[in-house]
Amino acid sequence: MDETTLEGALLEGPLAGLDAGDQAVFLERLRPVVDDLGRLVGRLYPDAESGELVEALVRAAARRFAERPGTLRLLDDERLGKPDWFQRPSMVGYSAYVDRFAGDIPGVIDRIPYLLELGVTYLHLMPFMLAREGENDGGYAVADYLKVDPRFGSDEDFDRLSTALRESGISLCVDVVVNHTADTHEWARRALAGDPAFQSYFRMFPDRDLPDRHEAHLREIFPDTDPGSFTWRPEIERWVWTTFHEYQWDLDYSNPVVLVEMSGVLLDLANRGADVLRIDAPAFLWKELGTMCENLDGAHQVLQVWRILTELACPGVLLLAEAIVPIEDTMRYFGSGDAAGRESQLAYHHFFMVLLWSALAEQNARLLTAALRRAGPIPPGSAWCTYVRSHDDIGWAITPEDAGTVGLDDHLHREFLSDFYTGSYPTSFARGEVFQFNPETLDRRVSGTTASLAGLEQGLDAGDETAVDLAFARMRLLYALVAAHGGIPLVWSGDELALCNDPADPRVDEDSRWIHRPFLDPGDIADRLDPATAAGRMFSVLSEVMAARARSPELHAQVATVPDWSGNDAVFCLVRSGQVGRLVVLANVTASDQTVDAGRLHELGLADGALDRLTGRHRSGDVDLAPYEVVWLVPEATAGRGDLLQH
Ligand code: GLC
Repeated sequence: MDETTLEGALLEGPLAGLDAGDQAVFLERLRPVVDDLGRLVGRLYPDAESGELVEALVRAAARRFAERPGTLRLLDDERLGKPDWFQRPSMVGYSAYVDRFAGDIPGVIDRIPYLLELGVTYLHLMPFMLAREGENDGGYAVADYLKVDPRFGSDEDFDRLSTALRESGISLCVDVVVNHTADTHEWARRALAGDPAFQSYFRMFPDRDLPDRHEAHLREIFPDTDPGSFTWRPEIERWVWTTFHEYQWDLDYSNPVVLVEMSGVLLDLANRGADVLRIDAPAFLWKELGTMCENLDGAHQVLQVWRILTELACPGVLLLAEAIVPIEDTMRYFGSGDAAGRESQLAYHHFFMVLLWSALAEQNARLLTAALRRAGPIPPGSAWCTYVRSHDDIGWAITPEDAGTVGLDDHLHREFLSDFYTGSYPTSFARGEVFQFNPETLDRRVSGTTASLAGLEQGLDAGDETAVDLAFARMRLLYALVAAHGGIPLVWSGDELALCNDPADPRVDEDSRWIHRPFLDPGDIADRLDPATAAGRMFSVLSEVMAARARSPELHAQVATVPDWSGNDAVFCLVRSGQVGRLVVLANVTASDQTVDAGRLHELGLADGALDRLTGRHRSGDVDLAPYEVVWLVPEATAGRGDLLQH
């Protein structure tokens, strides 16, 4: 179908009810991207009639554009006028389970003032759409993508929530579990009933031949509890591809109908008021025999299709890729080569998170500095989501090359980190749990809250005030670093109250990640106002860090982020430097006093004294840092610039 025919079909079809101005807006957005869409579809589905498929995808976008509520259209226009809205230093994220954070969705609405106190401008709520009954991986086994789970509220509550958040200046991030559905989703149920059209939504095999050939190359995600990547379903006498749990069925994107269906889901969620679509596990979307079936070109092309469709229907909405894969692979989710900047705008910086914990265990910043330098810059219209902890485990993603550059053995180092953070290393301050021991690779991932991993639990149990102080200093350091890196720093729910592990959750035995998914009880929340409590102490640490960030134009995501050498291996140094100015982060990752000498500071661009944006203190000469102290230094001459940012 040529362009004119396609436009005609849209004008008679999904755009028919719009006025001429709005129709023109959509068509103008479409013209520059329609060929790209055709190329992508052609590559993904060389055997399909690409014109028809392009039309189906564009129609899906046009329909959602036509249906998009007026307030969201206004927001799109506003964001098109300030495309860096999510890169600004005022962005602060918070991630939480609806029930654990606030009971239900109306409860979340009631807690908006609490989030505002922390400076939050972005809220990621863990999956709250209808999940499978029974085991559902914390909501990541979705039975209906568009219906709110009654455990959390109603569809109207979702509307009320998105309106209330928008009115408070908070963007909403919603999960879209694109790689798999629950085995109770209607598509899966129809497949189980024997309908071949729906069986072709999934990857199913009558015998072990292909599963075995695939498994020779696949990584096991849950080796302990769900070994293998295929599950036998006797009802249909088929092996079903299940990368994660056996009740999570991988969708088959080589069937273009699946791409069209899931594109509609994404756009519908955007029209319900999601500002950020968290694309869950995109690495696994595309599969090819003889490969690991992770990060394949097809997965990237699917994301590029979604980028185009969201820009057509809802250009104020962002894609966030949850690709927890080696850093060079993660970076490709921002788009690479010709497609640089044409995939997701956001991705999780899990590598930085791992390296931070590694530096604290090792009391040394060399690996952190050397490995982080490898991450390099990302396309200008993108940003990292940085974080200290999330609802997931920590996998020690340190490669032989990373470890080798600083003379470490990667395997031994990963062993050390697992020992350290599960508390079995002699000098450990941490209390974490093993998640998914893999007997083949000996990998042991780790669960635990920030507070427990940073030493608070151990310090409190021992009644050791010094240990408690050190734990708070570590937590401040971690959050001050993720806040300074560039991108959106995410606070994991409960960290702001220094909550320790909760081993009482009955699911911990089966899945240790539940240990760090605490309920926020009203008592802890009330304690945030009492500086004598752990909750009060941490809440003020975090809100101060985030307030200082908002005052620091140098922390805008478009300002370059360069890990540098401080001249002292115990002190991590990160330089943020661009037209708006220069900010030098120094962080002592050890429990002893450290110094960065004046000569090195001079080389780092801080010749005549500096202001610490975190505390407002002036520094000159050698900079002495107390255990785990972190400073954000700006040259005195530019220190006043933060005021400009308030406008
Ligand atoms: C993502 C989620 C994780 C979940 C998995 C499967 O990695 O963060 O919690 O288990 O996807 O959906």
